[in-house]
Amino acid sequence: METDVTVGEARLLQGDCVELMAELEPCSVDAVITDPPYMIGAISTGDASAKAGGWADMENSAWWYAEWLKLARRALKQDGFACVFGNWRSLPTLLYAFSKIKWQVDSLLIWDKEWIGPAGPRQLRPTYEVVLFAGMPKAKIDDRSASDVYRCRWMAGNSKTTDHAAEKPVDLMRHLIRLTTKPGGLVLDCFMGSGTTGEAAYLEGRRFIGMERETEYFHGIAVPRVRAAASQPQLLPPAPQAVAEQQGFDLG
Ligand SMILES: C[S@@+](CC[C@H](N)C(=O)[O-])C[C@H]1O[C@@H](n2cnc3c(N)ncnc32)[C@H](O)[C@@H]1O
Repeated sequence: METDVTVGEARLLQGDCVELMAELEPCSVDAVITDPPYMIGAISTGDASAKAGGWADMENSAWWYAEWLKLARRALKQDGFACVFGNWRSLPTLLYAFSKIKWQVDSLLIWDKEWIGPAGPRQLRPTYEVVLFAGMPKAKIDDRSASDVYRCRWMAGNSKTTDHAAEKPVDLMRHLIRLTTKPGGLVLDCFMGSGTTGEAAYLEGRRFIGMERETEYFHGIAVPRVRAAASQPQLLPPAPQAVAEQQGFDLG
């Protein structure tokens, strides 16, 4: 089966992202928008039902996060952004990984799901996940009205469009893409899953590189999904250059 698939302006790669990202051209990507495994079941005692490991588990998880984050930073342009998903359990490990590689986290966006999820008897019912923003030295958010809470309704079981358990909303990915890149920019998702970011990148007129390790997700879900998205018309406003040409302006 093919492990390198091109769909229009999207390149989809199957494999371990740590190996694949090492092959990317340095300083070539405008935004890394990605939703890594939360590593909350990575317990070295072998208790598959446990959610909280000891210090060694956190250290191991943070080491792995730091490895791919270093490669993400290497791929980013000097004005690029990383947007990395997590939840309250994965947050300490993620922050530790960023600090290990001395990459400052600039913001934490709360994704309010506008839906109350299931929880155990000792727990509060969850309604949010988080996205960490870490900018490169020249990064800036052009939309100065953008806040650190984003409401986007997502009801477990009802909102999903694929069989991937961790699918995220296209609307949320489109929001992150618009905040951090310009039309024509290059977005990388190194943990593509069902290909949500690829669909969002197409809809926002951005180029895309997606990586996914598992065959069932890559060939079974992400590739067909990005192909289906690319067969739909893009409802984008014309690029400034096209408007200027229509109106007879010379943008130099
Ligand atoms: C949380 S899911 C991403 C879900 C995605 N945001 C979506 O909307 O469908 C993380 C994905 O990363 C993949 N993955 C885990 N380790 C990987 C690795 N080393 N390289 C590439 N993909 C990996 C998993 O198979 C899983 O599909």
